[in-house]
Amino acid sequence: TDSKIYQASTTAPVNIAVVKYWGKRDAKLNLPTNSSVSVTLSQKDLRTHTTAACSAAFPSEDTLLLNGSPQDVSGARTQACFRELRALRSALEAQDSSLPKLAALPLRIVSENNFPTAAGLASSAAGFAALVRAIANLYELPSSPTDLSRIARQGSGSACRSLFGGYVAWQMGNEVDGSDSVAVEVAPASHWPTMRALILVVSAEKKGVSSTSGMQITVATSELFQRRAEVVVPKHMELMEKAIKEKDFETFAKVTMMESNSFHATCLDTYPPIFYLNDVSRAAIRAVEDINAAAGKTIAAYTFDAGPNAVIYFEEKDLDAVAGPLKSALSGLDGWQAAEREIKVQGLDKV
Ligand code: PMV
Repeated sequence: TDSKIYQASTTAPVNIAVVKYWGKRDAKLNLPTNSSVSVTLSQKDLRTHTTAACSAAFPSEDTLLLNGSPQDVSGARTQACFRELRALRSALEAQDSSLPKLAALPLRIVSENNFPTAAGLASSAAGFAALVRAIANLYELPSSPTDLSRIARQGSGSACRSLFGGYVAWQMGNEVDGSDSVAVEVAPASHWPTMRALILVVSAEKKGVSSTSGMQITVATSELFQRRAEVVVPKHMELMEKAIKEKDFETFAKVTMMESNSFHATCLDTYPPIFYLNDVSRAAIRAVEDINAAAGKTIAAYTFDAGPNAVIYFEEKDLDAVAGPLKSALSGLDGWQAAEREIKVQGLDKV
């Protein structure tokens, strides 16, 4: 038998939403209740590197090693990604009998994050994006980033946005099978290269309520959420895409902050309530408000995901006016680890 090892590697970046995904209309397919927009951060600081291999010589079970630890791949999310990618490979093999029969072989996936997985930063997005593209490369699939986003979405919703660099929209779509719920580029990183993100690691602990279960309870119990999905997000999507196209930082920043506030308001309106922000998070919000007041215009924007860590967006020219005051406002506080990092926004490296 053929004991040849086939393999391919890739990296995928972290993305941080400025219009938030929160709520599933289909939990199995990870179809969202609203569209979202994110900015892809530099892979220099935050990325997942993944190698996918397959061989008849491997043990018969698929395996995944993350930072050296074996992971459970039996979950429906990971299985959906494997199944979709294998189906695409099988279709290629059916068309061209000279291709090696890779779809039938066990997979061995090895992933490494270049940041601490426990740092409380979005890691599932980069993780599933890298996993899907590594296997797509291994299988030599002709799929576009948008095609792959449809698959990565089933691993983790936000992962679909990590298939692109720069400014990315996840269109919620209308189809019940999820075929039009995909990520598209709003603008490449080079369109607005002066954008910067500062990450404030407020807590390295794992989040209290997972995004999956948090979303489910919000959708089931919050009336505020209805209005957010139907009225607030569609308005913010339009304003945000326009602000990015026009490089209008003030609008970008205002919508980013109002989006974060709207999302966390629906968390508070969830019953029982979900608290992701803590005292340090709220101090960071006040510090950004003070920075903008001192500047006489909006030069910084905060945003928070399902945890207390802050991401502050600003333009390169305002680094001193943002980073210094932010650091001094937080430095005296309990729970502040002073582990902030400046992340340059850049495009997704080509494999
Ligand atoms: O992709 P998930 O299931 O980890 O959900 C991500 C949810 C938020 O990070 C809070 C918002 C977003 O759009 O990324």
